[in-house]
Amino acid sequence: KEKEKSVENRLTEVCQLLKDSITYYNWVGFYFKNGDKDELKLGPYVGEPTDHTIIPFGKGICGQVAVSNENFVVPDVAAQDNYIACSITVKSEIVIPLFKDGKNIGQIDIDSNTPDPFTEEDERFLEFVNEKVAEIL
Ligand code: SME
Repeated sequence: KEKEKSVENRLTEVCQLLKDSITYYNWVGFYFKNGDKDELKLGPYVGEPTDHTIIPFGKGICGQVAVSNENFVVPDVAAQDNYIACSITVKSEIVIPLFKDGKNIGQIDIDSNTPDPFTEEDERFLEFVNEKVAEIL
């Protein structure tokens, strides 16, 4: 229990650091596979509260990444049909899967209020963040 709590705190700090450091990161959070269910559960995050605390595999950008194991960069959320809107201010999104021992156990999800801000640099950077995060899980 003590260990779980400190991991939660550390992940919240990671979210806060990312949001504070990168101007176009407006909502930063982690989703994790919910036990043995085919769904994601919201973990630590920083930004506006979201109603989407549970996301079935396949649904939305996050649910698609849970199944594809691939990065998903969305320059314009309005152009996506399988998208779950959390806030009308969000223009773009990036979701990077998080692997532990080679298994896709969750993801980092970032929403931006800026249109098309994400580059390959964000992908490489967030892959690195996820590798570091996996080491404390
Ligand atoms: N937009 C996501 C849902 C999660 S919110 O961005 C926090 C999606 O389509 O999966």
